Amino acid sequence: MISLEVKNLTKVYPGATKALDDVSFQVNPGEGVVLLGHNGSGKSTLFRCITGFEKPTSGSIVIDDTDITKLSRNKLRPIRKKVGMVFQNFNLTYNLSVFQNVLFGALGHSKTAFHTFAPFASQQLREKAMACLERVGLAHLADRRADRLSGGQQQRVAIARMLMQDPEIVLADEPIASLDPVAGREVMDLLLEIVRERGLAVICILHQMDIVLEYGERIIALNAGEMVVNESIEKLDRTFLDSLYAKEESTEKERKVE
Ligand SMILES: Nc1ncnc2c1ncn2[C@@H]1O[C@H](COP(=O)(O)OP(=O)(O)OP(=O)(O)O)[C@@H](O)[C@H]1O
Ligand SMILES: [Mg+2]
Repeated sequence: MISLEVKNLTKVYPGATKALDDVSFQVNPGEGVVLLGHNGSGKSTLFRCITGFEKPTSGSIVIDDTDITKLSRNKLRPIRKKVGMVFQNFNLTYNLSVFQNVLFGALGHSKTAFHTFAPFASQQLREKAMACLERVGLAHLADRRADRLSGGQQQRVAIARMLMQDPEIVLADEPIASLDPVAGREVMDLLLEIVRERGLAVICILHQMDIVLEYGERIIALNAGEMVVNESIEKLDRTFLDSLYAKEESTEKERKVE
């Protein structure tokens, strides 16, 4: 199992927005972290740096003993497939079947995209895709077009696709923000069950405090690109967590509950 270490990570976008400012933290195998912060605080930028889609301005990201910020695109590929993503808007290919969407999760493992298209996929890959769909309770909808599903079902397909990838770290960017409270809770329960049964590390961006308190083990919070909290949930209280969203700045003293 692999761990993730982010060291002194800074990202300045062209035009001089400092999206991340000297951020350092570590996530151990099997650990569940909730990432909090105002809109524009740098959360998605951090995720894009961890998946290698964005080059940081300085600092390092060590996955599996390798600093991925130093890797070429080719060398990045095998590391990138260890990091599974779940998005707010599901990012499915909506005019294709549920089954095909899950098969696309194997893209990082296949020599060519060709081998992930249903008619050409190996028996082994097809069986694995069905097993992933079974895990999220949607095997019976394998042949349905992705756009003919509810939001909650679409997110479960996205989770099945992520499983297809055999990730070791899961990054979930507001996975339930587009879902109603009931579907959102179902998706969170499923996601957490799956990461726990597989011992995966997870970093989840969430905004709903009730859910944060229920599911988070550790909280990392960003404020204007700076990490202002990195603390286990028992050491933080609800009032403090709410205050993170109530105002832009909070002093060091207010941050921790003694
Ligand atoms: N490609 C880009 N080019 C220039 N600036 C960018 C780019 N992407 C993000 N930014 C800026 O970087 C800052 C951090 O953005 P980011 O999307 O990481 O925030 P976030 O915490 O994910 O916000 P939200 O909660 O709204 O999703 C913002 O000021 C944003 O405008
Ligand atoms: Mg974002």
